[in-house]
Amino acid sequence: MNMLCRSSTISFRLSLFLLTTSFISAHTITTSQTLSDNRNDTLVSSNGAFALGFYSPASSRNRYVGIWYNNMKDKTVVWVANRDDPLPDRSGVLKVIEPGRLLLLNNATKATIWSANISRSAQHSPLARLLDSGNLVVVDESDESNIIWQSFDYPTDTFLPGMKLGKNFVSGHEVYVSSANSNDDPATGGFTYRCDPSGYPQTVIKVGDSFRYKSGPWNGVSFSGTPHLVKNALFSFGVVINENEVYYNFQLLKDDVYTRLVLNEFGIGQRLIWSDETRSWKPYLAFPNENCDSYKLCGAYGICSTTWPECSCLDKFMPANPQGWNAGNFSNGCIRKTPLNCEDGGNGFLQYSGVKLPDTEGSSYNTSMSLEECKVSCAGNCSCSAYASLNISNGESGCLLWFGELVNMREISPGQDIYIRMAKSELGSRSRKREIIIVTVSVVTGIVLLSLGLFLFYLVRKNLKHQQQETDNLRDSSETYEEQKIQMFELSTMINATNGFSVSNKLGEGGFGPVFKGLLEGHDIAVKRLSTTSLQGAHEFKNELIYQVKRKMLDWPRRFDIINGIARGLTYLHQDSRLRVIHRDLKASNILLDSDMIPKISDFGLARICGGNETGAKTSRVVGTYGYMSPEYAVDGLFSVKSDVFSFGVLVLEIISGKRNRGFTLVDHRHNLLGHAWMLYKEERSLELADSCLEYSSYLSQVARSIHVGLLCVQEETEERPNMSSVVLMLNNDGVLPQPKHPGFFTGRDVVIRSETWHSSNTAGTSNAMTISQLEAR
Ligand SMILES: *[C@@H]1O[C@H](CO)[C@@H](O)[C@H](O)[C@H]1NC(C)=O
Ligand SMILES: *[C@@H]1O[C@H](CO)[C@@H](O)[C@H](O)[C@H]1NC(C)=O
Ligand SMILES: *[C@@H]1O[C@H](CO)[C@@H](O)[C@H](O)[C@H]1NC(C)=O
Ligand SMILES: *[C@@H]1O[C@H](CO)[C@@H](O)[C@H](O)[C@H]1NC(C)=O
Ligand SMILES: *[C@@H]1O[C@H](CO)[C@@H](O)[C@H](O)[C@H]1NC(C)=O
Ligand SMILES: *[C@@H]1O[C@H](CO)[C@@H](O)[C@H](O)[C@H]1NC(C)=O
Ligand SMILES: *[C@@H]1O[C@H](CO)[C@@H](O)[C@H](O)[C@H]1NC(C)=O
Repeated sequence: MNMLCRSSTISFRLSLFLLTTSFISAHTITTSQTLSDNRNDTLVSSNGAFALGFYSPASSRNRYVGIWYNNMKDKTVVWVANRDDPLPDRSGVLKVIEPGRLLLLNNATKATIWSANISRSAQHSPLARLLDSGNLVVVDESDESNIIWQSFDYPTDTFLPGMKLGKNFVSGHEVYVSSANSNDDPATGGFTYRCDPSGYPQTVIKVGDSFRYKSGPWNGVSFSGTPHLVKNALFSFGVVINENEVYYNFQLLKDDVYTRLVLNEFGIGQRLIWSDETRSWKPYLAFPNENCDSYKLCGAYGICSTTWPECSCLDKFMPANPQGWNAGNFSNGCIRKTPLNCEDGGNGFLQYSGVKLPDTEGSSYNTSMSLEECKVSCAGNCSCSAYASLNISNGESGCLLWFGELVNMREISPGQDIYIRMAKSELGSRSRKREIIIVTVSVVTGIVLLSLGLFLFYLVRKNLKHQQQETDNLRDSSETYEEQKIQMFELSTMINATNGFSVSNKLGEGGFGPVFKGLLEGHDIAVKRLSTTSLQGAHEFKNELIYQVKRKMLDWPRRFDIINGIARGLTYLHQDSRLRVIHRDLKASNILLDSDMIPKISDFGLARICGGNETGAKTSRVVGTYGYMSPEYAVDGLFSVKSDVFSFGVLVLEIISGKRNRGFTLVDHRHNLLGHAWMLYKEERSLELADSCLEYSSYLSQVARSIHVGLLCVQEETEERPNMSSVVLMLNNDGVLPQPKHPGFFTGRDVVIRSETWHSSNTAGTSNAMTISQLEAR
């Protein structure tokens, strides 16, 4: 029976199946067979990778014909036949009829629910087959190369390897991906992902008729806007351009790799790779990924960067409407400081480097020209505004020409060069980098729902030295928030000082972000902007000035709110967000308080995004902050949500006590906040941990409870620590709490040995951590 099922050449009889099995498992149906939902029939591709059958999305009773990965426990559907025409029950029957049309019938009402459009006919009997690539094809029985119809020509929300995303100029058919309404409803949603052939091809995401994202042109290696997505060991990809068609496609280079690109219900394109190890999908790339990916964000001749404000005018350009521009409305873009006068030949070209090339919708190109010929060609046509190399895969070749305004540019690394037409008088030398760094200012950009906060802090040199001594000594366990002499500046001051974080003030690119030169109170300063990726769209963007908080201002209810706020934020990152995020560097200075004292978690510079079920990983590069790192992370490089929980516990104890957890290397546990808290807990004197300036007599049980939860979070054994959603529950309910076991980095000699091991084997990490703690601001 099984052999019969697997054999595609033997045409099986329905009655036989009904008698002996309820389950069809072949990869082909002929005109004499049907695929019935009632019988739970499925087709399975001959390599076993994909299955086709009927399914219901979670929390829906509707039935759909879909294709999914056959070997994965959680059904990942990659194609749906009747996405907009669900069946109400299990009466669906799929069949293939002459001359090659697929039909989905309701066997109860005999109504046609869905059918495939065909423009050709089979010469002989048609048959439908699920191929190893996940493509459902209808072919001619006697000539299987004659593809009458294929699901790859009508994708739903998933772009699979082997598909051709683009346009066939002969048939006029365009293959594009469109988002689903939601996880529970595969119906056509509002977003599409296409390979737009107009001008020079680029991939785009549209919402309705308007553009939301454009990748920038294909440059032979990558799309100009996603320079990091290049051919690798797992897959290759590219854009094919000829007179018959333009398309973008992906090819797997290994058989046992699964990758898919899905346009999600929010209009974000996500490339995911299946991890056999964790048995889950790992995100590999997402777009749009940050504000700068928004189409045309900075208007004509504006350039977007991850600084704040995100838009600036290209050098030699100025805002068309300075008032609107300064108020953050960039839509009017920029204009030349010196207008062009093309006819009298008084202009040339200025090179701009490190950019995502502008929108190529109205561009023209020539694959055989050299860059010099390209320049001549652009110079000879007054409406040509810029030129660039077309193909950088093997040196530089080809020619791309822009006509009219340049939009959708951003700073990117590695970026490309573009040559923009400019009045001759503007072609002199441009300002260069210089000056020394005295002052460090950081702008930290946060991500995910917790939004983007802007955080500035400033250290004068003498404070920096003063602090370094403190850090080195590790002696000061009574240090308080008040004692840190860190001067805070208004964001507007920083903007003025750096000329609006303008490109011309950029000194260079540091480890965590660009560094800008500025002038503040007669001193040269360097402004370092720490930035990370925002996974949210522009509407999640929010800028807030952060206030330095005086310890006394923080009464107990406020502190408790802050603890709760951080706990909920972490719960979101760990469990509720679509991507599991492990922060890895949770500490006091990464908690930003807005003017309402609402905490926001910031600085995701070290954060890791993990796929669905993945809870942790191992790294050989331990970075984080001294005093907040869990033992398993500091020593073995193992990080997980539970290492964030540890850092959270330290934070809770710090917030309650108003003291820092430092010096965990010391054997004498009185110098360590965790040790101190643990000792007090054992002696049933927990409340003595609370900050001496706290008036908490009305909140005794809440304070004691918070200390207890803090201790549960810092337990040495990873498994003993609660997860963040339990923490939220524990903080806010009266239930009995488990007894905490001893905290990490506290008891016994082995702990001291462990921390020494880390010290000696990871000097770089130590100095890094030192640097981070020097920059801490409270
Ligand atoms: C089909 O599957 C459903 C759900 O698993 C089950 O209840 C039903 O009995 C199956 N039908 C047949 C004919 O095996
Ligand atoms: C369709 O329904 C009829 C009864 O109305 C039943 O005899 C037949 O087996 C059904 N066909 C399939 C493929 O379920
Ligand atoms: C089939 O073609 C018709 C006419 O071109 C079109 O209106 C219809 O939407 C197409 N159906 C599908 C499922 O593509
Ligand atoms: C780019 O150049 C490389 C090497 O010269 C060539 O193989 C490739 O086909 C070119 N790609 C495009 C899109 O022109
Ligand atoms: C920005 O400026 C444009 C043009 O002046 C105007 O149409 C638009 O409404 C402005 N947008 C906002 C958000 O103010
Ligand atoms: C591309 O440029 C070359 C050299 O200038 C020229 O011979 C050729 O005709 C151009 N091709 C197209 C399609 O314009
Ligand atoms: C300049 O280029 C544009 C766009 O390709 C074209 O329409 C126009 O004819 C060209 N002008 C000249 C003088 O070649």
